[in-house]
Amino acid sequence: MNGRIDIVTIFPGYLAPLDLSLVGKARSEGVLDVGVHDLRDWTADRHRTVDDTPFGGGAGMVMRPDVWGTALDDVLLTEADSRTLVLPTPAGERFTQAMAEELALLVCAGGQIAFACGRYEGIDARVAEHYANRDDVTVREVSIGDYVLNGGEVAALVITEAVARLLPGVIGNPQSLVEESHGSAGLLEYPVYTKPPTWRDLDVPEVLRSGDHGRIGTWRRARAVERTARRRPDLLARHAPPRVREAKAID
Ligand code: ADE
Repeated sequence: MNGRIDIVTIFPGYLAPLDLSLVGKARSEGVLDVGVHDLRDWTADRHRTVDDTPFGGGAGMVMRPDVWGTALDDVLLTEADSRTLVLPTPAGERFTQAMAEELALLVCAGGQIAFACGRYEGIDARVAEHYANRDDVTVREVSIGDYVLNGGEVAALVITEAVARLLPGVIGNPQSLVEESHGSAGLLEYPVYTKPPTWRDLDVPEVLRSGDHGRIGTWRRARAVERTARRRPDLLARHAPPRVREAKAID
């Protein structure tokens, strides 16, 4: 049985899309458990306060470690096979398909991923430090890209979707996972077409209608390499097999 994903936030409504589409279906069919929790349920004061002014001064508010600590102590399950606490932050390590695969393996093996979604200027740094010091929790501070969002909720959604679709039973046809952009080939995916064969004077490339699977495979790989070289040359340099790197070096 898969493990589970928990998300702690002051805006549980932000995570409503997790009821929809393939992740929603996986949840309702019991393939994946996702819990969404309101951080304010762990506050102790009348105003349900979660933040305070920053030590050292500066703009904005910082989320209090005491509130986060009581919430996470409750949410992190002692009975899970492993526990990974993900703190979405623009200051984190970059989220990649490789990290999605790592996290999916953890969940597959009965592990738990818990997201702590910060708002305002972020969460008091001692929260990451405290859980990193616990030997039953792995802490990962993760960024989904080089831009700043208003909080960690959208990042938690992105990471949850990227992880969930890799779990057995979430995507109907697992073959669709095989040739994707950012997969093991390290290339962006080739362009795809469907009916009608001509649309607004634009034809589907003839080779795709030839039925010749050898030619189709060669054409698709060439388009993937071409697209990657044009849009993401950094990927070719990092991942491509030597054959592609050499071809690029020659021309
Ligand atoms: N919170 C705000 N911006 C973020 C980003 N780029 N990635 C993850 N969490 C964030």
